[in-house]
Amino acid sequence: MKWGQRCLSRFHVLFTLGLVFTLTTTTLAMKKDDFKTCAQSGFCRRNRAYADMVTETGDSFQSPYTLITDSVRTEKSHIYADVKNTESDILLTLDVYVLQDNTARVRVNEKQPIKPRYDGHGKHTLQAEPVLQEELDKDDVKTSPEGVVTIIMNDDKTRKIVIHPNPLRLEFLVNDSPVISFNNRGIFNFEHLRTKESHKPKMIQHDKDSESTEEKEAPWESGSWEESFKTWTDPKPNGPESIAMDITFHDFGHVYGIPEHASSLSLKETRGGDNAYTDPYRLYNTDVFEYAVDSPTSLYGAVPFMVAHRVGQSAGVFWMNPSETWVDIVKSKSEEKSSVQKVLSFGKKSNDKTSTHTHWISEAGVLDVFVFFGPTTKDVIRQYTKLTGTPMLPQQFSLGYHQCRWNYINQKDVLDVDNQFDEHDMPYDVIWLDIEYTDDRKYFTWENNKFPEPIKMEQVLDSKGRKLVVIIDPHIKRADNYRICEEAKKDGLFVKQPNGNDYEAWCWPGQSSWVDFYNPEAREWWKEQFTFNKFIGTQENVHVWNDMNEPSVFNGPEITMQKEMIHHGNWEHRVLHNLYSLLSFQSTSDGVRERTVVEHRPFVLTRGFYAGAQRYGAVWTGDNMADWEALYYSNPMSLTNGMGGIVFTGADVPGFFNNPTSELLVRWYQAAVYQPFFRGHAHIDTKRREPYLVPEPYRSMTLAALRERYALLPYWYTLFYDASQVGTPMMRPMFMEFPDDESLFATEDQFMLGSGIMVKPVTVEGATSTEVYFAGDEPWYDTLTHAIVKLTGRHDVNAPLGKIPAYYRGGNIIPRRERVRRSSHSMKLDPFTLVIALDTQGYAEGTLYVDDGETYDYGTGAYIHTKFNYSNGALTCENIHADPNSKAAKQYAKDMKALRIERIHILGVSKKPNGIQAESNDVKENLVFEYDTAHAKISIKDPKTSIAECGWTIAVA
Ligand code: NOJ
Repeated sequence: MKWGQRCLSRFHVLFTLGLVFTLTTTTLAMKKDDFKTCAQSGFCRRNRAYADMVTETGDSFQSPYTLITDSVRTEKSHIYADVKNTESDILLTLDVYVLQDNTARVRVNEKQPIKPRYDGHGKHTLQAEPVLQEELDKDDVKTSPEGVVTIIMNDDKTRKIVIHPNPLRLEFLVNDSPVISFNNRGIFNFEHLRTKESHKPKMIQHDKDSESTEEKEAPWESGSWEESFKTWTDPKPNGPESIAMDITFHDFGHVYGIPEHASSLSLKETRGGDNAYTDPYRLYNTDVFEYAVDSPTSLYGAVPFMVAHRVGQSAGVFWMNPSETWVDIVKSKSEEKSSVQKVLSFGKKSNDKTSTHTHWISEAGVLDVFVFFGPTTKDVIRQYTKLTGTPMLPQQFSLGYHQCRWNYINQKDVLDVDNQFDEHDMPYDVIWLDIEYTDDRKYFTWENNKFPEPIKMEQVLDSKGRKLVVIIDPHIKRADNYRICEEAKKDGLFVKQPNGNDYEAWCWPGQSSWVDFYNPEAREWWKEQFTFNKFIGTQENVHVWNDMNEPSVFNGPEITMQKEMIHHGNWEHRVLHNLYSLLSFQSTSDGVRERTVVEHRPFVLTRGFYAGAQRYGAVWTGDNMADWEALYYSNPMSLTNGMGGIVFTGADVPGFFNNPTSELLVRWYQAAVYQPFFRGHAHIDTKRREPYLVPEPYRSMTLAALRERYALLPYWYTLFYDASQVGTPMMRPMFMEFPDDESLFATEDQFMLGSGIMVKPVTVEGATSTEVYFAGDEPWYDTLTHAIVKLTGRHDVNAPLGKIPAYYRGGNIIPRRERVRRSSHSMKLDPFTLVIALDTQGYAEGTLYVDDGETYDYGTGAYIHTKFNYSNGALTCENIHADPNSKAAKQYAKDMKALRIERIHILGVSKKPNGIQAESNDVKENLVFEYDTAHAKISIKDPKTSIAECGWTIAVA
């Protein structure tokens, strides 16, 4: 086969380039060669080579996968059929499910595998079984004489799935235009399970130099049964078992998501093109030391969910597979319409749009893909989080500022830091303990000399409404007389080696074993360890941090666990690697929740994650650098995590490794005011840098940033509540709020917080001004000065150090609490300030959500949800509680009746009002107000209005 030779030469070029790249980057801190490139990973290499062959063969290539048309059956909204690989004669099963809410699921498995392929991922990844749409009508599924199956998904017939039989190809159409298609490029490749003896290489080449006509396995197919990387050999007892498919997003020039990478918001191309990466984006949870930015290298977490957006349409794909996965991205001008279509389009310009072609490559498992039709990005994310779970509503304290360091060395140190915050009048909610608090890194124990009375220490924190978070990692020190190790050993709860012995390797404590979180018994046992009578020295204000759960294995290949290690059910680590992080996070979160009789919402932070992790807590972006680049990337990384459902996310402030300058520190605190998870953290080798230690004038600037965060907590909490209902991230890419403005589709250096605040963090050293894009037609208002900004498009704004370029968006009402105290707990009963940012029509609206901030009582209705409207010069409020007449709702509103608004700022009022009146129950009262002509702003003092009871009006005359 000639193409074999062509591929070989290309492969050599790629390999050589890869090598050069590796060598030239060895000066960077990240040890790039500790991690595989696609060319070093057998299944990625094979599938890329296959894609090259298909592309180079061109139109004469025929994908071997064919639908067996007379096998097509429909049962309710489930269509299934057999598919044949005509090269190998292997039969596959195809299942297409039409699900509720504009969602479809496609599964492909082997019909008669020689042993089961791993298919247990859904149970852990999905929150519940996906719900089928109502039964399809007979007319909704039609097969043409050529065997093309058309499925009409909805009543108005706007969404369809078309299955083309030969070769197999699936199209997902909106208004009869393909939005997404599978195997459009013909590179679908399903490696069936086989024995080593029966293995026939797929890719063959002639030996060019010899006279013989002998065909040989192409070099990139080597390593199918054993593969080496550095000093490691992966025995691969099951041989090749990868699954790969191309997914095209038609007419979409931008795709987003698939965290976690230190990369751009709009994903880059990976096989040629301007500024492209040379390797695919990789999804394989790994602990990458001093990771480089602007890279497709895998990091700690993986969410194989991608969103595409263009004007008028968003769509998404969730490739549900927890094994190592790579995603190639290529863009091209969309195909020209056929001549008939051109004629019919009555002189419209020929199609000059860009399409995005992706190639998904997973090492094992089955093909299990969801397609979301949107139509908006918020819809796509709602559809995705309906399946994988909406983000949990966190305890309110966790939205405040967290102070961490590796390490606060002893009890006195912790309490000193705590006192210093008070002495400097700096608000903070949580202090953290890293690994050194334990006795010899044995988790669930304390280093008694340094922490002789942990409960006493926690009580001091508790007296100020503050919390402690302690680290618990999944590796367990192999040690005698260590209860945790002994129990896990005895009950067989560790991951095993292929020979049945416990897996042992190195991590922080030295020789360790890893809890097998895939084992349900291990998860139950782990949960119990968080009860107060087991985790001695902890009480209710202690929460947990899960680190190193990729899992990180210091002496393992790519700093993680060997793929041939064995989990419960005899599954290789290979098939479920990325699930490990999720399951460890889940059982920790469940344990912290279940440790009290009345359950409280757990706070757990994880480093490793997988799709669905949003159900259990917060995620941070790991060990970043204290430099300007890392500050810049904290924004696209957090935005991308949010697009992947992981909304409670943030970066170490102001960078983990190295010592930040005071300027960087200030700018980073300023950015983090608007990023969901806000934690100061530092490597053990760095200088102390708690915000009160920075010299003036930086300290006051940092304090101002912290105070702004606390003032915004009501807005933050309301946004978290919304996220917990429908998945919309709090921190949003600009295009999510301005979906028709194409110039924002790749914008990642400014973002929206909810729909009401736009932020442009300054990430350039020495900057005194920055460029801001003022989107839309409504006015913006400076959040600090309240000055109106009547600009549209890109403009330079003043941004000296101390100034955070952040703007209220006209049309929004933002709830705040201006009496900033030592912790969020002490502000719980404080009155609110409303900032009403008027649009050009003099209109604004906004919501406020309040509950106890700790328990699950809101689930029974114990919360307040209020919508404020300002129109025609009158502010009113509306109770938008889902069940306002429930006993719990009424009781809570009664208990909270005293929660009031103490101040209202109305921005964008061009003339001084004659008077302002509050009216409630037919009682009218004139209110005291001030008018600021320069800022076109009214400030009303004490309007005497409750947020728990509506029925009042504030009228501006
Ligand atoms: C790695 C984590 O990413 C870092 O935050 C932590 O301080 C160290 N492990 C020590 O536990």
